[in-house]
Amino acid sequence: MSGGRTGPAAISVDRLTKRYGVHAAVDGISFEVARGEVVGFLGPNGAGKSTTLRILAGFLGATSGRCFVDGHDVAEDPYAARRATGYMPEAVPLYGEMRVREYLRFRAELKGVARGKRVEHVGRAMELARVVEVADTLIEHLSKGFKQRVGLADALVARPPLLILDEPTAGMDPNQIREVRALIKELGEEHTVFLSTHILSEVEASCSRVLVIAKGRLVGEGAPGELASRVRRAPHLVAILNGARKAWKPIVDALPRARLLAEKVLDGDIDRLEIELAEHDEEGAPLDHGQLVETFAEELVNAQVGIRELSIASPSLEELFASLTQEPAQAKPREHGGDA
Ligand SMILES: Nc1ncnc2c1ncn2[C@@H]1O[C@H](COP(=O)(O)OP(=O)(O)OP(=O)(O)O)[C@@H](O)[C@H]1O
Ligand SMILES: [Mg+2]
Repeated sequence: MSGGRTGPAAISVDRLTKRYGVHAAVDGISFEVARGEVVGFLGPNGAGKSTTLRILAGFLGATSGRCFVDGHDVAEDPYAARRATGYMPEAVPLYGEMRVREYLRFRAELKGVARGKRVEHVGRAMELARVVEVADTLIEHLSKGFKQRVGLADALVARPPLLILDEPTAGMDPNQIREVRALIKELGEEHTVFLSTHILSEVEASCSRVLVIAKGRLVGEGAPGELASRVRRAPHLVAILNGARKAWKPIVDALPRARLLAEKVLDGDIDRLEIELAEHDEEGAPLDHGQLVETFAEELVNAQVGIRELSIASPSLEELFASLTQEPAQAKPREHGGDA
């Protein structure tokens, strides 16, 4: 591709609808992504993100509406559209019995990369996706995060102008997530990137613009900072514990600058807790939530409380969606409790 050419939008979607039976997974959405943008497609589970991306990537037919990729109608000119697109699906379909380099050569061939260029293209894609160290490893022996990265290398290997990435950091550990976010920024210098996520901080880290989707409809659009500031609040620690309340309650109460927002008995001695954590300590220094969770877990174990789940949830997207689908009113007083 020639650099810096103007022309059609990288993505143009016009009243796209996808129905499963009577249920509209995607309900008449329209939007554009200009060349060179890095745009986040943000929405909760089941919002219609993957459905939209699959249609754009030519893996699923729409019920109605049209999509153009790099000026090519995805339904009418699927080959040209696909050539312009590198797609990383949600569940990366990989050939476990192949080695990474071998797989990527095979993929490059399938995607029509000229024979004489395959070695170079594969090498560069492996460098970018940081999989050089596992080039000769069988894919089935890779961790989930590395498999994701091979999926990313696959999306890059034919050097398409547009990258469509479906939850690129799903299944990765915090270090890998940081790396991939940095990588997406880097890729954004040469590619148009459209990526889905349900994590608000993900779009803040990587994207210049965000489209928000909920229940198949676009409910918001803007700079990530704008959206985030509308829901900015402390992160939540979600814990599912198996043990007596009198065993875990003092431990929860002793967490620094934390507040138990909700507790719900799931079954017998199994409780689901939602604990609000402060972002900063009394002196204004950022609190190390990872460390806090580790200590919390140790104390629970010492008190013989079983841990079914322990995770930190980002600021609630549900609140963002609620605020986006409501009339813009003045900030409501915060309510907590029986919404779980
Ligand atoms: N093959 C299918 N048959 C029937 N319903 C489907 C099918 N695929 C998706 N759906 C439904 O369409 C809706 C949108 O699904 P989609 O996978 O696009 O959501 P998503 O935003 O990607 O969610 P997630 O964050 O969980 O990946 C959901 O209600 C889902 O149950
Ligand atoms: Mg999805």
